[in-house]
Amino acid sequence: MSSYDETTPLAREVADIARRRVALAEQSLPLPRRTRVLTVANQKGGVGKTTTTVNLAAALAQTGAQVLVIDLDPQGNASTALGVEHRSETRSVYDVIINDVPMRDVVQKSPEFDGLWCVPATIHLAGAEIELVSLVAREQRLRSALETYLAEQTFHYVFIDCPPSLGLLTINAFVAAKEVLIPIQCEYYALEGLSQLLNNIKLIERHLNPDLKVSTILLTMYDGRTNLANQVVDEVRQHFPQQVLDTLIPRSVRISEAPSYGQSVISYDNNSPGSLSYREAASEIAIRGEHNRGAR
Ligand SMILES: Nc1ncnc2c1ncn2[C@@H]1O[C@H](COP(=O)(O)OP(=O)(O)OP(=O)(O)O)[C@@H](O)[C@H]1O
Ligand SMILES: [Mg+2]
Repeated sequence: MSSYDETTPLAREVADIARRRVALAEQSLPLPRRTRVLTVANQKGGVGKTTTTVNLAAALAQTGAQVLVIDLDPQGNASTALGVEHRSETRSVYDVIINDVPMRDVVQKSPEFDGLWCVPATIHLAGAEIELVSLVAREQRLRSALETYLAEQTFHYVFIDCPPSLGLLTINAFVAAKEVLIPIQCEYYALEGLSQLLNNIKLIERHLNPDLKVSTILLTMYDGRTNLANQVVDEVRQHFPQQVLDTLIPRSVRISEAPSYGQSVISYDNNSPGSLSYREAASEIAIRGEHNRGAR
């Protein structure tokens, strides 16, 4: 890299990207010995939950992990981004939660990477919040279905993409997981609603799932040119020094256009800055999991 003239900002950026690409290519990530189930949640809309779910899952699958994404949002955005069928007649997570259909019967392979699988969501899921109310063990339905499936099929990671609400679907996701991953958008209202989210997680931990903890916070849509973004980063790091990943996800056009091709940014433009950032975040998650293993 020393042959680069790194005196201009553009040359510096090019050199930086090349260095990061090489570092990622040389890395081999540890695989968890037990399945890690992460619920990606934030009741705020549009903070990057789905983008984070899809791209971390793709990045981990790219490094050889077996990864399952459960799309728990009636919008079905994760299903779209992973290129799996989710028209209204497709069997989906709705059938799993409401009709006791086994997960193995609805799971689809994503064309993105070997080892990447998706339980799709269809629009029927929009009614599930109400239908769940009258069902027995209404908070545990996803957990039971997932436990049965994980006894048949090995996955290293399961990511659950939540809708922007704290209703019964999100509660099902909290009960099914051990870890919560909270994406936080680097903007003015970033921390608004966060205490409500954390209180909910505490209640779930107390009453329904003692193993649940917020393991990971990821700052998304970072624009380093604004002071505001840097203030948000500082503030979130101060509040959650253990949980916040070092990697920041930049605001990137490539990230936002990948879903319209039914792709993650990892397959759409593997070495773009946005993809590199999600791959680095995935490495951090894999490596931190390894370090935390003894503590669990
Ligand atoms: N790093 C990024 N750079 C640019 N655009 C982004 C980035 N991350 C997400 N976006 C875009 O921002 C919008 C919201 O992202 P996303 O759908 O992931 O959020 P969400 O939290 O899942 O939303 P919802 O609450 O509706 O489920 C999408 O259009 C997405 O493409
Ligand atoms: Mg979403």
